[in-house]
Amino acid sequence: MRFTVVTTNKGKLEEFEQIFKQYNLRYRVELLKTKEIQSSDLREIAKESVLYAYNILREPVLVEDAGLFIDSLNGFPGPYSSYVYKTIGVGGLLKLMNNIEERSASFKSVIGFYSPYTGIKFFAGEVRGSISYESRGVSGFGFDPIFIPDEGDGRTFAEMEVHEKNKISHRGRSSKKFIEWITSLEALPTPYGDDR
Ligand code: IMP
Repeated sequence: MRFTVVTTNKGKLEEFEQIFKQYNLRYRVELLKTKEIQSSDLREIAKESVLYAYNILREPVLVEDAGLFIDSLNGFPGPYSSYVYKTIGVGGLLKLMNNIEERSASFKSVIGFYSPYTGIKFFAGEVRGSISYESRGVSGFGFDPIFIPDEGDGRTFAEMEVHEKNKISHRGRSSKKFIEWITSLEALPTPYGDDR
């Protein structure tokens, strides 16, 4: 099934494209800003956002909502990550973490997909890690320069190539679940396997 990836975030897009190209998925990209409701739940935000996108585009759509959840700040900034990034940024978050020794955190991603044939579907991914004491690296986007994944070698996400980040990241994980699902549909007779 052809679908449309809806986002205005170039960093996310680069990561999706690096994964999707390996699976010959048929998709296009729409740089559309979707409506993001205020909610503490990424899945609720992804749900409103994917339905909003479908109502405008009227074709199978994929959106993603993600956030950085810091344990010692009770999950802050979580669903407000994008706002916090735009306001206080990486430097502000590091200041908030000043003198805090417990630095464990997670990035979480929820992909929302909607088509009239399948209804609404969600795919979640998470990566555990810790917040560094200083900003390191220039790749990626958002809070990448201060997130050190537990499964890595001590580098922050911003010190990794896109393919290295995708192997262990929240978005890499939610994307792989989505790909498994959509490619299993392709194996079925119409309407999933055709070009509608
Ligand atoms: P949203 O999913 O567009 O609401 O934005 C989530 C915000 O969380 C982004 O603006 C980033 O600040 C942050 N974020 C989400 N995923 C990542 C990531 O993979 N790396 C770095 N920051 C991220």
